[in-house]
Amino acid sequence: MELQEALVSRRTVFRFKPEPVPRDVLEKVFSYGIWAPNHHTTEPWRFVVLGKETKETLGRRYGEIQMGKAPDHVDDENRATLGERGYAKFMSKPTIVAVSCLQDGDEQTQREDYAATCCAMQNVQLAAWEAGIGMQWSTGPISLEEPTYQLLGIDSAKEYIIGFFYMGYPEEIPECGRKPIDEVMRWSD
Ligand SMILES: Cc1cc2nc3c(=O)[nH]c(=O)nc-3n(C[C@H](O)[C@H](O)[C@H](O)COP(=O)(O)O)c2cc1C
Repeated sequence: MELQEALVSRRTVFRFKPEPVPRDVLEKVFSYGIWAPNHHTTEPWRFVVLGKETKETLGRRYGEIQMGKAPDHVDDENRATLGERGYAKFMSKPTIVAVSCLQDGDEQTQREDYAATCCAMQNVQLAAWEAGIGMQWSTGPISLEEPTYQLLGIDSAKEYIIGFFYMGYPEEIPECGRKPIDEVMRWSD
């Protein structure tokens, strides 16, 4: 696939075929991430591929979060259904990778390292797309809470989880457009 074609055709994917992304394919795709531009070459990106037990624990927690989102008037039975649906939704993501960036140094360095990790993940998303793999970047509450950091062995004082990346072979590719370039670009004097 041509780079420019991949840039335009890549879409966030929410529904996947059941099979996970094989380990060697994951390693290959993430190996493109680490070539992202990065001020002072701090290489701040860190990747944790969720194993079966971790995924199960987080799936249960995801279900709880969904239950907690229900308004007060929802009864216990319907609340439990929301929890089960949440669990099933999380577990339907064939491969999940938590991506974090080291947060060393002053505020500007931390910003730059966050930006570099985002660049790394766009590299990964494009490399994955070329390999027929879809992804969804998720910054939902589960990626932000302290128990998740502990479960993944990430020290929240030193590292920030930029998101969970749900990955797999697409079941469906959604459509999503953009404004024309002249609406978002201008030329100063
Ligand atoms: C920093 C970041 C966080 C995102 N978090 C979420 C999220 O929590 N849930 C979600 O459904 N999509 C999330 N997305 C994906 C965007 O919703 C998606 O990129 C957008 O809808 C445009 O669709 P496209 O990627 O197909 O062009 C996130 C994307 C970025 C860059």
